[in-house]
Amino acid sequence: MSNINQLKEIATSLVRKGKGILAADESNPTCKKRFDSIGVKSSFDSRNEYRDILFTSDGIENFISGVILFDETLRQSTTCDKKIPFTEFLNSKGIIPGIKVDKGAAGLEGFLNEKATAGLDGLDERLEEYYTLGARFAKWRAVITIGDDIPSDACIQANAHSLARYASKCQQAGIVPIVEPEVLMDGTHTIEKCNMVTSNTLKIVFEQLSIYNVLLEGIVLKPNMIISAIDCPVQADIEKVADMTYACLKENVPENVPGIAFLSGGQSGDLATSHLRKMNEKYKAMPWNLTFSYGRALQHDTLNTWKGKNENRESAQKAFLIRAKNNSLATFGRDIEILESR
Ligand code: 13P
Repeated sequence: MSNINQLKEIATSLVRKGKGILAADESNPTCKKRFDSIGVKSSFDSRNEYRDILFTSDGIENFISGVILFDETLRQSTTCDKKIPFTEFLNSKGIIPGIKVDKGAAGLEGFLNEKATAGLDGLDERLEEYYTLGARFAKWRAVITIGDDIPSDACIQANAHSLARYASKCQQAGIVPIVEPEVLMDGTHTIEKCNMVTSNTLKIVFEQLSIYNVLLEGIVLKPNMIISAIDCPVQADIEKVADMTYACLKENVPENVPGIAFLSGGQSGDLATSHLRKMNEKYKAMPWNLTFSYGRALQHDTLNTWKGKNENRESAQKAFLIRAKNNSLATFGRDIEILESR
């Protein structure tokens, strides 16, 4: 299969109806924050155990098309006697292993409170190794902050440029890039402001992708939804979020992009699912598939059920599967099933 066909096929598989992506690529410092919240010490072994709980949940492959891993996790294995490398285990379930390849967002010099994502240095070599380790898609997250007089043009341009260079390098390496420009929901801004900034960001990202000859059929876009900031006094309802998000995507995302997999960005699990469901329920004839690539919204219940205790493993997996299933249903625009175990 040619490189181009392989990229198209992987991108399409990641966003096919009924499936979405599990973002389990928290860096070790982020994992520590998550584990601190449940009173668990973050260590090589506890992170391995937690990821094992997620990935070995029975039937995960019915709802999850791909899993984004962190470098450490890509090299870890299941915790059962057989110790199967996670990449091999996921592949055996038809789940595509992915890898976070950016090096995090650092302050953008000369621009107060703004960030640019690092990681282009050495990326070609890292991609080559990740491919041999089994990764077939990658993620790079750019962060755009809304505040007084920000984002600046410089911040949006710098991040869009890096996203395009990263995407081009991935495709050269036979890896599908998830292009993730995240407009943060932190602050007090209105949904209209989020819409303006996201629309402008997406426009510039697609300009850069075009300049760098990125094959749009071989990417997955991972944007934020258009929502009110977390501390905005007026919170837009589900219908408005669905309408504004769809309109923004329709205006800015070319039709040959196979799919859009939203990040949850700090929304509650229920809201993230309801927003996705509403969009898929209302807008049937979309050019791209709309699905999820959630981290917190998929994992919150699992983490809080597990609490680092082996005896909670099974109920933690159950909690994960409920979330995964509800989001899978949301890709068909179907109602969240209230399962008796909740
Ligand atoms: P959240 O869904 O928690 O925002 O995480 C998704 C992600 O991958 C952020 O880069």
